[in-house]
This record gives sequence, C-alpha cells and structure tokens, in this order.
Amino acid sequence: MGELKSENVVWHKLSVSRDDRENLLKQKGVLIWFTGLSGSGKSTVANALQNKLYEKEKLTYILDGDNVRHGLNGDLGFTIEDRKENIRRIGELSKLFVDTGIITLATFISPLREDREQVRKLLNEDFIEVYIKCPLEVCENRDPKELYKKARDGKIKNFTGIDSPYEEPENPEITVDTSELSIDECIEKILEYLVSHKKVI
Ligand SMILES: Nc1ncnc2c1ncn2[C@@H]1O[C@H](COP(=O)(O)OP(=O)(O)OP(=O)(O)O)[C@@H](O)[C@H]1O
Ligand SMILES: [Mg+2]
Repeated sequence: MGELKSENVVWHKLSVSRDDRENLLKQKGVLIWFTGLSGSGKSTVANALQNKLYEKEKLTYILDGDNVRHGLNGDLGFTIEDRKENIRRIGELSKLFVDTGIITLATFISPLREDREQVRKLLNEDFIEVYIKCPLEVCENRDPKELYKKARDGKIKNFTGIDSPYEEPENPEITVDTSELSIDECIEKILEYLVSHKKVI
C-alpha cells in the first residue's frame, strides 16, 4: 500500500486552493473521527453534532460505517486485513473531503489503534479523535441493531468486543462517556473543544 502502481502519474496543480474554498465557505475543513464500540453512540452523537453545526450554517458531511460499506467498500469484510483496508480507504476519502473545506464526521468502530494512527498521520492537525466511550455491557443492553444478540448466538463472526478486539484510544483529543452524559452534554463537550481550538470558526 502507498506505492503507485501506475507510471507517468503526475500531480496536477490546480489554481483554486483549499484556502480559497475555506474562505468561500467561511469555515475550515477538519476530520472529526468518532471511534467506539458498536452501540456506543457514534452515529447518534455525530448526527446531533451535525444538526448543531447546520444551525450555525456550517457545511458538514457524515461518512458512516454501514453506508460506506454499501458502496465504496462493499468488497470488504470484517477480517483484520479487510478492516485495515476499510479504514485506509476511508482515511484517503476523508482527506479529499477535508480538502474541500467540509467539516467531515467519520463514524466507524475503527477498533485498531494502528489503523486510526495511520489516518491521523495522513491528516495531521486536521484529525480530531473523539472516543465515544461506553462499557460493553451498556452497548450490549442497548443493542439498537440486535447485532450483539446475533454475535452471542454465533450468527456474526469477528464482532468487536465479542470475538474481535477493540483497542481504546490512548490520547484522543476528546472523550465522551455516553453511559454518563446525555447526547446534548456530549455534543456540548465536543463543540467546546472545536471552538476553543479554532477548529470550528
Ligand atoms: N448519551 C447517549 N449518547 C449516544 N447514544 C445514546 C446515549 N444514550 C443512549 N443512547 C442510545 O444508544 C444507541 C447508540 O447507537 P448508535 O447507532 O449511535 O451506535 P454506533 O456507535 O453508531 O454503533 P455502530 O458501530 O453499530 O454503528 C442509540 O439507540 C441511542 O439512542
Ligand atoms: Mg453507527
């Protein structure tokens, strides 16, 4: 990965820059990366945050696990290798989104630290990791898609938290515990960080 397979591929420099687009939109492109167990609340919190940003007239887009797997990554499964490739492609896709000036919210379990760090390296200071923390028991109790039930019954293999690992972030920019905070409190905490660090202007 990372090596060009085709020869004679030359980057074409274009005349409208990211700065120009950001000035046009009156905002800055950034990638807000939500990681956490299934059912922890990544999609719920990102959706609520997006509503708030929309009210502030900010252009956002959510890249969501299931949706991306329907299209771009429909050829990938849930083995460690496929999960890695899933996150790698999403990282590259997110980089393009951020370059447009869009506030991009990515909601993927992204269980492996190494894979998330790869995206961080690609995006540098444009990468904000939000750990959506929630004990496995609470996620399993919520089970909004009945996936835990299926995993416990052996109907889904390689399910994060059951028979596939989840590695907690070591130094996320933001942690919100959805078993302790309400959805509104979670987005308040995230917004506070984004505004005080001038990620959302
Ligand atoms: N404080 C909270 N924050 C977020 N979600 C909460 C909170 N309290 C309860 N919930 C509920 O928890 C569930 C979280 O489900 P959600 O689909 O957002 O999880 P997810 O992390 O996106 O899972 P997946 O990885 O499977 O997509 C929802 O049913 C939501 O209503
Ligand atoms: Mg989700």
